[in-house]
Amino acid sequence: MKWMIVEKAEALAQVTYQLLKNEIQRQEEGLTIGLATGSSPVGVYEEWCQDTLDCSHVTTVNLDEYVGLSPTHPQSYHTFMKEHLFNAVAFKKSYLPFGDTEDAHAESERYEHLVRKLGVDLQLLGIGSNGHIAFNEPGTSFDATTHVTKLTESTREANQRFFDKLEDVPSHAITMGLGTIMEAKKILLVASSARKAEAVRDMMEGPATTDCPATILQRHADVMIVLDEEAAALL
Ligand code: GLP
Repeated sequence: MKWMIVEKAEALAQVTYQLLKNEIQRQEEGLTIGLATGSSPVGVYEEWCQDTLDCSHVTTVNLDEYVGLSPTHPQSYHTFMKEHLFNAVAFKKSYLPFGDTEDAHAESERYEHLVRKLGVDLQLLGIGSNGHIAFNEPGTSFDATTHVTKLTESTREANQRFFDKLEDVPSHAITMGLGTIMEAKKILLVASSARKAEAVRDMMEGPATTDCPATILQRHADVMIVLDEEAAALL
């Protein structure tokens, strides 16, 4: 694992965006980038929206979506991506799982095939304060493919800030599995604030265990972790 520590969240976004931009400029066609939601990548997306970079050769594929929310639901990840990136940057094609499907398991399988067919060149990730990546909660098998997952109460509480009240936060999500994520050629993980410090320490220094799903990244050959000083405080 390689890592970089920057002083503040603003620099974190700039540095991370620059790494992404290098990839986009380096590969002139057929590039697939895996995208994440949550607050961690928001600054990166702001940088991206302010740039004039040609992304017409870039396909994007998101990590996850809440079960039960339609693409037009204000708190869906479809809406999040439109508001934070897709309305401003034109991509070749963008994919997210559909959360409002009748059969979320079949949708998971369809999405897994799609992701594997596309092949992710670079996957952007955040990390949950319990060490989850995408919505792979503690206890998820390292081999998991895209699947339906029950969110832990701590994850629902952490994500409550995007909803009016806790009861509105869906109980389940469709998420790329840890095995799916590990297929990406490169991984770029970004974490900021003291809230992430323990998970970051476990991910980088702890034993590889499903108790902290992000520890699987220790087994990936090309991971860059970008941290602010608060997130790196326990290293
Ligand atoms: C969410 C997402 C993850 C994200 C994580 C951290 O639940 N499914 O992809 O990395 O939790 O979120 P945040 O960046 O808002 O702290």
